[in-house]
Amino acid sequence: MGKALVVFGSTTGNTESVAEVVAKTLEGEGMVVDLQNAAAVNVAGLATGYDLVVFGCSTWGDDEIELQEDFVPLFDNLDQAGLTGKRVAVFGCGDSSYTHFCGAVDAIAEKAMALGAKVIDLPLKIDGSPDAAEAQSWAKDVLRSAA
Ligand SMILES: Cc1cc2nc3c(=O)[nH]c(=O)nc-3n(C[C@H](O)[C@H](O)[C@H](O)COP(=O)(O)O)c2cc1C
Repeated sequence: MGKALVVFGSTTGNTESVAEVVAKTLEGEGMVVDLQNAAAVNVAGLATGYDLVVFGCSTWGDDEIELQEDFVPLFDNLDQAGLTGKRVAVFGCGDSSYTHFCGAVDAIAEKAMALGAKVIDLPLKIDGSPDAAEAQSWAKDVLRSAA
């Protein structure tokens, strides 16, 4: 099945809780999974050795899309992560009352695609409080799409 990396940026813990469910679900499906907080990652070669990279990031800001702050250095240096040819999936928590609902998810997917990643066309945008069942089912769908 292979190896997956799940990296999240989360301020109040919502995206973190989804990342934990995603990581557990992928493990349950037979993958070896590393779960990392974006605040602590070393971007250079981040994706090396992984068959699947899952990015989770909440959206902040008002008129403009702002990525969760811990994710910003990773986003800015994403070209160093070695994403070319990698399967990538993106999720995030947000609030649909904002203009750019989960804009961070789109921004990360677009950048990864521009860097040559095989972005799985299955963004998960969570409105409000995360639901574990939704995260679980998404992780399984991602695996199916990545197969
Ligand atoms: C000041 C502020 C700005 C926000 N801006 C956005 C936004 O532009 N788009 C969006 O979808 N959600 C926005 N949100 C909602 C957060 O993304 C949401 O609360 C999310 O669950 C936080 O996830 P986290 O705990 O993983 O950081 C904003 C929330 C706050 C408090």
